[in-house]
Amino acid sequence: MKIAIIGKGNVGKALASGLEPAGHEIRFGDKNPQESVEDASTWGEILILAVPYTQLRDVVEHVGERADGKAVIDVTNVLDANRNMAIGFTTSGAEELQKMLPRAKIIKAFNTVFAEQQGKGKLGEERLTAFVAGDDKEAKETVMNLTKDIGFEPIDCGPLSAARYLEPMGMQLISLGYELGLGSKIGYRLIRD
Ligand SMILES: NC(=O)c1ccc[n+]([C@@H]2O[C@H](COP(=O)([O-])OP(=O)(O)OC[C@H]3O[C@@H](n4cnc5c(N)ncnc54)[C@H](OP(=O)(O)O)[C@@H]3O)[C@@H](O)[C@H]2O)c1
Repeated sequence: MKIAIIGKGNVGKALASGLEPAGHEIRFGDKNPQESVEDASTWGEILILAVPYTQLRDVVEHVGERADGKAVIDVTNVLDANRNMAIGFTTSGAEELQKMLPRAKIIKAFNTVFAEQQGKGKLGEERLTAFVAGDDKEAKETVMNLTKDIGFEPIDCGPLSAARYLEPMGMQLISLGYELGLGSKIGYRLIRD
């Protein structure tokens, strides 16, 4: 698939490194006019928004109706300027993004995985779980398949409102990794019988 990744930072590059070998085409969109957000989001069949949560509104202004009808993957962790959780309980970053892009198919994914593991979907030999939430079944299935292409085991977490649970999971991962000293070589895996 043609996948436009908006944001060429840790996450953008890590996801590209996992998706390209699986045969997907990647084009980045960033602040560089030679790789503009507008061009990338016109070209992409799927968009991945890999920018800080505080930049989403700005990015949405550049993406606009180019996202209409497309799966748009929201990887953000909802950190405010003080690195506290910015939103939750009765809504989520992903649901607010859906309001900003009403004709796009917003899917929450990858926010519960450190960038270091996003290119492989594994920690050592252990497959990590990709928790995926979204309202559009077909778009969610497509995104789950992308996570599988990278190496993750995808799990359907239900509607986009499940981002209210996934976003705190992302915050917990950050806390474990950076505040409680476990480092970034950690990840979530759902065990099933
Ligand atoms: N790092 C992780 O382990 C991890 C894990 C899960 C989820 N996340 C989430 O993933 C997102 C990206 O994280 P990251 O670690 O990749 O951050 P990062 O390394 O700081 O990269 C962010 C990228 O977004 C670009 N950007 C910022 N504002 C933009 C705008 N208005 N228009 C276009 N591009 C813009 C930045 O460009 P400039 O450098 O030019 O500003 C940079 O290339 C965040 O929401 C984060 O919470 C991160």
